[in-house]
Amino acid sequence: MSVILAIESSCDDTSAAVLRNQYLLSNVIASQEIHRRYGGVVPELASRAHQQNIVPVVDEAVKQAGVRLEDIEAVAFTRGPGLLGSLLVGVSFAKSLSQALNVPIIEVNHLQAHVLSHFIKENEDSPTPKFPFICLLVSGGHTQILLFEDHFHYTVIGQTIDDAAGEALDKAAKIMDLGYPGGPLIDSLAQHGNPSAFNFATPNISGFDYSFSGIKTSFLYFLRDQLKVNPNFIETHKPDLCASIQNTIVEFLVRKLEKAALKLHVNQVAIAGGVSANSLLRQRIAQIGNQHHWTTFVPQKKFCTDNAAMVAIAAYFKFLQHDFADISSPPYAR
Ligand code: KG4
Ligand code: ZN
Repeated sequence: MSVILAIESSCDDTSAAVLRNQYLLSNVIASQEIHRRYGGVVPELASRAHQQNIVPVVDEAVKQAGVRLEDIEAVAFTRGPGLLGSLLVGVSFAKSLSQALNVPIIEVNHLQAHVLSHFIKENEDSPTPKFPFICLLVSGGHTQILLFEDHFHYTVIGQTIDDAAGEALDKAAKIMDLGYPGGPLIDSLAQHGNPSAFNFATPNISGFDYSFSGIKTSFLYFLRDQLKVNPNFIETHKPDLCASIQNTIVEFLVRKLEKAALKLHVNQVAIAGGVSANSLLRQRIAQIGNQHHWTTFVPQKKFCTDNAAMVAIAAYFKFLQHDFADISSPPYAR
């Protein structure tokens, strides 16, 4: 029996979760609205907001879980990667709480946590991947194809050589002046658009690596040319533009993931990270899964973007191995 309290503060979401064994008891997330005004995360404002949010968020997570502070057997935290000032708030809070409760601390890698979110159980029937499985990790900061041999041993099969997929969507949204974060806005506008309305070239990059900066540039140049002819082009073509850029990025992601899974002969295929909330990507993964008779794992939307439940489950597997952190371990940004 283990009760773990986990804290996630790597970017702009302050989150705390309580897990009993593999079962989630609570997962509270305070998203920082302040960054919308600036069209992106402002690190200085993010750390201040974490500082304000952390006590009420942890308090609420413990309350919702129906546990007492003295029931907590370990405190887990995201050690990195992320924004240093943001990480420091969670790391310092976790260490102080562990000292006060006299329990060990467990450090978690944010990227592993995204993937391990597939092991969170909400009931007896929650399906979990079997090893080895392949996972496309797609977020605002990362795009990687990973092959997991067990919970903590994995090989990077491919990764982006420049921008992350989420970053490309956020930048495309910024070019269209849609707001921040752009991924979900593009997703919802794309519902009413034609994905084949416009073509944006994808780079010819070898193996299982990705590159998104060229797609973004071709989107930018295309719009620049169209706006010369029609200054209202963006305004009058928003859904088609969103559907087309989303389709370009998703097809590129899916094509390489499919090739990698076939080459490695794995039949367990997962996606994780913020961009795995994307409706088209979710649909496409289900489709290729059906086509190849693979078992596919698409996280529930609440576990796609940053949350502490995923940190808690990663910590649970470390707890089983008595893999505790030193109280002096500093956060790492990269
Ligand atoms: O995992 P995450 O919350 O933070 C990082 O670790 O980066 O991912 C955030 C990224 C952002 O780029 C955001 O635009 C993207 O995930 N995102 C989406 C959707 N929801 C979030 N992208 C496409 N469609 C969505 N529905
Ligand atoms: Zn993340």
